[in-house]
Amino acid sequence: MNILVLGSGGREHALAWKIAQSPLTDMLYIAPGNAGTSQVGQNVPLDPGDFPAIEGFILEHDIQMLVVGPEDPLVKGIYDYFRSQYRFSGLFIIGPSREGAQLEGSKAFAKTFMQEEGIPTAQYRTFSAAEKEEAKKFLHELSAPYVLKADGLAAGKGVLILDTLEEAERSLDEMFKGKFGEAGKKVVIEEYMKGIECSVFVLTDGSSYLVLPEAKDYKRIGEGDTGLNTGGMGAVSPVPFADVEFLRKVEERIIRPTIEGLKKRKIIYRGFLYLGLMNVDGDPYVVEYNVRLGDPEAEAVIPRVDQDIVPLFQALATGNLDTLELRIHKETVATVMLVSGGYPGSYPKGKKIIFPATLPEHTVLFHAGTKNTDDGIVTAGGRVLAISSYGKDMQEALARSYEVAEQIEFEGKYYRKDIGFDLL
Ligand code: AMP
Ligand code: GLY
Repeated sequence: MNILVLGSGGREHALAWKIAQSPLTDMLYIAPGNAGTSQVGQNVPLDPGDFPAIEGFILEHDIQMLVVGPEDPLVKGIYDYFRSQYRFSGLFIIGPSREGAQLEGSKAFAKTFMQEEGIPTAQYRTFSAAEKEEAKKFLHELSAPYVLKADGLAAGKGVLILDTLEEAERSLDEMFKGKFGEAGKKVVIEEYMKGIECSVFVLTDGSSYLVLPEAKDYKRIGEGDTGLNTGGMGAVSPVPFADVEFLRKVEERIIRPTIEGLKKRKIIYRGFLYLGLMNVDGDPYVVEYNVRLGDPEAEAVIPRVDQDIVPLFQALATGNLDTLELRIHKETVATVMLVSGGYPGSYPKGKKIIFPATLPEHTVLFHAGTKNTDDGIVTAGGRVLAISSYGKDMQEALARSYEVAEQIEFEGKYYRKDIGFDLL
């Protein structure tokens, strides 16, 4: 079958890499893709948010499966766009409906959903600009640090954690004044949860589900989790503290009630569900839902899926997930992200990348911000390459990724040398 993957990051390269291995795959297209995806499929210059253009491409190239990588097209309703047209009734779509995507698209929606379903999450309240005084009063009832979240999608930048009441009040004013545009006109204020984070990924057809391996990502730019937030500087899977007992609690207290809650509301959800969790003294709480795979978590999780992913997607899209089981690699995968100097602030692009002549067999290189040019492959984003390696444990997997990290060269190359530091 012909398959189209939407997106251009390391997550999409990992998905495309996996899909390309399937004997069921004929043509694989990635829109818009990067230099890495062009090694496993064909890149097409389409904007994932331009549904009519995607529609034209699907018709012209006889696409039978559409895999949506990033959240924006999902929140914008790409599932509904195609599902509402009879001629696309045979198209397998991997991703939730617009309503389902609200779990990520609106923090207020997600919090209300969790509250109604009794899913453990931080105590919270939602306020609009007209309720500024009540919002401040609520802040006074909480203790430091203070967590403020813009309601809508803010490209991962809409969450503020403030140490003092003064800073929190100032930030609240700024948000209501439009610091995050429309996304921040409604603000969720919530209780701070102290613990260690990890993410669990679920494949669901809205009724049955399969739990993919969990992962932990490293969001801060600096070693020891310091400095500015990034899209993610590395990831490991599995996560040692996410033991059988913890994962049992996740399934019982979070996954099942989430699926039940979707079913009850007749929300169509056929895609990935990402649970951002806080482990508070051994008990899982939801920090956030995302309606896609994480990046760079996907670069650690997808390589651990030890079976053809295309039949999984087919079963998912047709509501038959309960007929399949997952096979997961026992080995650990550790991902180290190489980024452009200056990221997550401003950084130069177009730096030539020198790759080692061969890669070790236990390492897979996923491209994030890269581009093909006449002069070879050059940097084209903040996050440039994700190096994922298998190992018998986290230390071995990390050592293998770091060896390759040293061998790849481009001007301004930076990476964190302490991925996994808090798990030892
Ligand atoms: P979110 O976009 O909701 O995942 O928030 C981004 C990051 O902020 C999370 O990955 C957490 O590290 C942190 N965070 C969000 N909410 C809380 C909370 N209630 N308590 C502690 N940390 C939080
Ligand atoms: N790595 C975090 C995310 O994909 O949202």
